[in-house]
Amino acid sequence: MAEETVHALRGVSVTVDQGEFCSIIGPSGSGKSTLMDILGCLSRPTSGKYLLDGDDVSKLPDKRLAEVRNKKIGFVFQAYHLLARATALKNVELPLIYAGAGKRERRKMAEEALDRVGLADRMGHRSNQLSGGQKQRVAIARALVTNPSLILADEPTGNLDSRSGEEILEILETLYQQGNTLILVTHDNKVANRTNRIIQIFDGLVDSDMVNTPTDSTVAGAPVLSDIS
Ligand SMILES: Nc1ncnc2c1ncn2[C@@H]1O[C@H](COP(=O)(O)OP(=O)(O)O)[C@@H](O)[C@H]1O
Ligand SMILES: [Mg+2]
Repeated sequence: MAEETVHALRGVSVTVDQGEFCSIIGPSGSGKSTLMDILGCLSRPTSGKYLLDGDDVSKLPDKRLAEVRNKKIGFVFQAYHLLARATALKNVELPLIYAGAGKRERRKMAEEALDRVGLADRMGHRSNQLSGGQKQRVAIARALVTNPSLILADEPTGNLDSRSGEEILEILETLYQQGNTLILVTHDNKVANRTNRIIQIFDGLVDSDMVNTPTDSTVAGAPVLSDIS
């Protein structure tokens, strides 16, 4: 910032194993977004290393970094970031178009991904015809369609009512149970409590890093395990 150097992160050291479901929490300005940008290969650390799948990606030029991002990272944003006038199917096909997949193959893969998030009956809808929860499900389908190494979600339930938010959390839990690696940023402790590890960032440093036993949904009327048996 002009003359002044801002240290958004000041020596964060974490290792996330394949198949983990972890959350990053911390107050505003603590460095969460900066850390997510680095994890998502949207920016590089000015010092230090970022190993993704064992490869140091912290010094790659932009074009290579973009390729890594397309191949290995799936993003889910708070505000969905879909193409409003494109169909759900087209939105999910997009990363496959960038990856150079053939027309028939990418159609099939996008259909499968939308089916996995329960939107088989909405594939032809334009995204601006969908509810918030449905939009976020399209965004999750888009994130997982390339079978990425890492799915990053930045406040994925932040714009949703509690019931749609619960649906999204259940989908993320299912993806975790299927072996995907997920990292989400949230300021909501209830959301963080659904993950298996909570990394707390404060002032650009890891303040605490704890294994967590996920708690059940707290949404009124939602089934809890004891109700089902
Ligand atoms: N491009 C930038 N230029 C200057 N300061 C920045 C920039 N990006 C982030 N910061 C600062 O770095 C710190 C961490 O920011 P950020 O990662 O956005 O935090 P969080 O997402 O936890 O709110 C803040 O003090 C913020 O003001
Ligand atoms: Mg932020």
